[in-house]
Amino acid sequence: MSFPRKSAVTAGGVALVAILLYFVYENVHSRIIFGIREDFSKAIPYDKPVPGIPGIRAEQCGVCHRANYEEWKTSYHAKAYVDPFFQAYWRKDRHIWICLNCHAPMAPQQPWLIKGLEGGKVHKPIKTDNPNFDAEFQQEGITCAACHVRNGVIEGPNEDVQAPHPTRHSPRFRTTDICFTCHQVPSGPFQFYNGGPCSTFPEFEAGPYYKRGMICQDCHMPSIERPPIISGGPVRQGRQHLWRGGHSLEMLKQAVTIELTPDQPSLQPGQTANFTLRLTNSGAGHKIPTGDPDRYFTIGFEVVDGTGKVLKRQEDTLQRWIVWWPVIVEVYENRLAPHVGRDYRFQYRLPKNLDGLKLRAFVKYHIMTEKQYKKLQRNYGLSVEVPYVFTVYEQEFRLNEPLPMTASASEITSPQCNGRKG
Ligand code: HEC
Ligand code: HEC
Ligand code: HEC
Ligand code: HEC
Ligand code: HEC
Repeated sequence: MSFPRKSAVTAGGVALVAILLYFVYENVHSRIIFGIREDFSKAIPYDKPVPGIPGIRAEQCGVCHRANYEEWKTSYHAKAYVDPFFQAYWRKDRHIWICLNCHAPMAPQQPWLIKGLEGGKVHKPIKTDNPNFDAEFQQEGITCAACHVRNGVIEGPNEDVQAPHPTRHSPRFRTTDICFTCHQVPSGPFQFYNGGPCSTFPEFEAGPYYKRGMICQDCHMPSIERPPIISGGPVRQGRQHLWRGGHSLEMLKQAVTIELTPDQPSLQPGQTANFTLRLTNSGAGHKIPTGDPDRYFTIGFEVVDGTGKVLKRQEDTLQRWIVWWPVIVEVYENRLAPHVGRDYRFQYRLPKNLDGLKLRAFVKYHIMTEKQYKKLQRNYGLSVEVPYVFTVYEQEFRLNEPLPMTASASEITSPQCNGRKG
């Protein structure tokens, strides 16, 4: 009579697997790919209005601080909420509350108040409506007040300020602390990243710029002289509110130096040609790429014939390899730390006739893969075209002509970004 016992064992086994799967689903498999740290676990409160000014909308600050406003408006901080990539991913993540604490962090920018979490779970917030919600203010993303307004007072970098609004000196503005809250994102439970999903800080602190006393602002907020705001006021050394990064081709070009060298000065038909492309992180204070783990670089070579047909292609990537399910594990990464270079070699067996043959080498930066981009369009309402691939370097030359020994390295144009203190 073994039959009923066997089925009982099978049923028990099935139940056990189901319980395990449920446990993985509820506890291990992440709804969000990061953990929550105290400093960004809550919206920035705005309980007391700032006296002396009509309000804290960016354009209201801009009436007096025109230049800061115009700069900020062009930045990705100003777009952090309306950014179509943010909107598409936020939709994918079912508009979970936590995202807004970095992308639209002031309390009046959020439609809800979070009173707590059921069982401590991120995806089970105890929410009520926010009576002070301001939908237009929400659009401003990381607005002036997110960095400057605390407790009815405007904080800033200086001590001797005479302003129509109360001010207070805060040392955060001239240290990296002000960036840390949002730019060093921790791992959650059962997430095994090296350094967290966005690990810009350990990358920076292990590198040469930190040792020289530089801070994020030296490269991301170039210094500028500010004329007086009211007549008779002081001229101040301020910083441009630009925060250019991976969405800026100019900034990407400042991050790298590229040298392309053929092994031999000219090529003979039938010979094997060898080329070396040396890619160096010469201008970024952290690894390239940093931040969001979707970002990567490709380094490629192509041989094309006279009709444009690709005869041989080679492509390498600089990125992090992460297994996302059922548990997040970072398996490997090969990004370039500051001042580190790497050689990429390409070999090509030349045909009898070199006429019309060209070698093309390129370095590209990708915000995400084409597959991810298409998925955002198909499933998550991405409806506008947004650039997500940038060609940082491209060089092309004919194989039947004498080869240039080193084909152009991209220029480092800003003194702020080539390692000297700006
Ligand atoms: C009516 C004009 C006016 C408005 C509106 C205004 N400010 Fe000011 N603000 C000033 C003046 C004047 C100073 C003093 C400038 C100085 O001493 O260099 C100042 C100083 C500052 C400083 C410098 C503090 C420092 O440490 O150097 C910051 C930061 C600042 N304001 C931010 C803001 C923000 C943010 C808003 C909007 C919420 C705002 N201001 C609205 C006029 C204004
Ligand atoms: C309140 C959170 C917050 C603070 C504080 C903050 N950032 Fe950001 N930052 C963000 C978010 C969110 C984005 C991404 C916006 C987007 O692309 O939608 C971003 C984007 C950036 C980018 C990338 C722009 C691009 O082209 O991809 C740079 C560079 C940057 N921040 C630098 C800084 C620096 C330097 C500081 C400190 C002075 C700082 N940030 C402070 C949240 C913050
Ligand atoms: C992501 C944080 C952040 C945001 C957002 C931000 N600021 Fe600042 N702001 C800073 C930092 C950092 C400094 C200090 C620069 C320095 O070292 O002098 C600063 C300095 C200033 C100063 C002093 C003079 C100067 O230009 O450096 C003024 C005025 C100011 N901010 C106004 C604004 C206004 C107005 C907005 C919105 C349009 C704004 N800030 C948005 C971080 C921010
Ligand atoms: C020596 C100059 C330098 C310093 C210091 C520096 N950065 Fe950068 N950063 C760059 C350059 C150049 C890029 C463009 C290359 C890129 O996007 O990978 C960049 C890109 C970024 C990006 C865009 C993400 C990406 O990979 O595309 C972010 C976010 C960022 N930096 C944040 C920071 C923060 C936060 C700090 C301080 C802890 C900092 N940076 C310090 C030069 C610097
Ligand atoms: C702790 C702060 C923080 C939280 C919470 C956060 N982000 Fe971000 N996010 C950032 C920063 C900083 C960047 C800037 C770029 C980087 O690091 O590469 C960014 C960049 C992004 C980008 C890339 C935008 C672009 O144009 O390249 C997307 C998409 C995004 N975040 C979506 C989300 C979603 C969805 C959530 C919630 C599940 C979320 N973020 C929660 C800080 C945060």
